[in-house]
Amino acid sequence: MRLLHNAIACLTGLLSLQVSASPTPVEKRQTPTISNRVIFSPPSNAGWVDPRVLYARAVQLKSGALIATWENYSPEPPKVYFPIYKSTDGGASWTQISKVEDTVNGWGLRYQPYLYQLPVAIGDYPAGTLLVAGNSIPTDLSKTKIDVYASRDDGVTWSFVSSVASGGVAQPVNGQTPVWGATAYRDSKYGQKLAHQTTTDLKSWSSLVDDVHDTNSYAARPGMPAITKLPNDNYIFAYEACGSDGCRVHYRLTRNPLEVLSAPSYTLRSTAGSTTTSSPFVVWSSVGGANGTIILSGGSASNIFVNQKLGDPSAWVEHKTPQPNAYARSMVLFQNDDGKMLIIGAGRLPPSSTNYVSVSVIDLRTTMGL
Ligand SMILES: *[C@@H]1O[C@H](CO)[C@@H](O)[C@H](O)[C@H]1NC(C)=O
Repeated sequence: MRLLHNAIACLTGLLSLQVSASPTPVEKRQTPTISNRVIFSPPSNAGWVDPRVLYARAVQLKSGALIATWENYSPEPPKVYFPIYKSTDGGASWTQISKVEDTVNGWGLRYQPYLYQLPVAIGDYPAGTLLVAGNSIPTDLSKTKIDVYASRDDGVTWSFVSSVASGGVAQPVNGQTPVWGATAYRDSKYGQKLAHQTTTDLKSWSSLVDDVHDTNSYAARPGMPAITKLPNDNYIFAYEACGSDGCRVHYRLTRNPLEVLSAPSYTLRSTAGSTTTSSPFVVWSSVGGANGTIILSGGSASNIFVNQKLGDPSAWVEHKTPQPNAYARSMVLFQNDDGKMLIIGAGRLPPSSTNYVSVSVIDLRTTMGL
């Protein structure tokens, strides 16, 4: 699920609920649009590892500042970490304010970061605490462990919170036993499946509950879940159907975000017949009429897919964006709800010697011709 679906995968349901709660329209402020502005590009000759950067995530804090992070393939030693960048001008300029380092395993923080600001207190963590969940993996990729870190000062300092799940070698291969930040797990019945865990204190985590598995195919590898709440109190849960449908993006609509397994499943297909493949991300904006607009990004296309009929499978429309396609792009709706949306991406899966982190800020109304 969205936030959580990383480590927080668990929290996922919980957090995602709160993420989409109460978009209070406030004073309309004009956020300038931005086209594919590079915010970080590693030096080409300093030992950075293929693919240099990947899998970017961002969040807008209550203060209005934007925070971003990504998979960062810096030379080892020292261990890899999640860089924390901040923008106070709507994504136009960014500075590194800190990094989140593995303080418990000695492995580094390597894959699948996720950022989330707590809207309410959980356990000892007050509302406003910024969380990073991600996959701690040693240099030889022999183990996987989803850990959560917290910052009580908007991302300047970080401390370990808890560990959600542990698994085997970090290879996306049937028969291996990794856990992935996007909450994909292995089970002897399934090459890969999606599951969540929940928490009420950020410290202890429930046992696994399956979200998507394919009882007809061991080789199916559903992956990369993302979830958001819709105004009719349904949730849209998007994922990639690898191993069974070429990683095409599918989605489910469910009243209960903790009960995805039994929900009906659809292939995302636009009214023009196009589909998108890999690593979806999904948000909901109040822009665009009574139902608002679902916005879905996939990994294979620069274009976004929008739906103004609450996920009706016959109502997806494709629109251009200035942001290049990337593996695991993500999107942030600006809190002032003026219809501006940030898209962040960091290039493609290896091999790549050209990946960089960039952002675009688009105006949804203009994009959709409203
Ligand atoms: C809102 O979504 C419902 C359900 O798909 C649809 O019947 C209705 O036409 C939509 N309303 C608008 C204004 O698009």
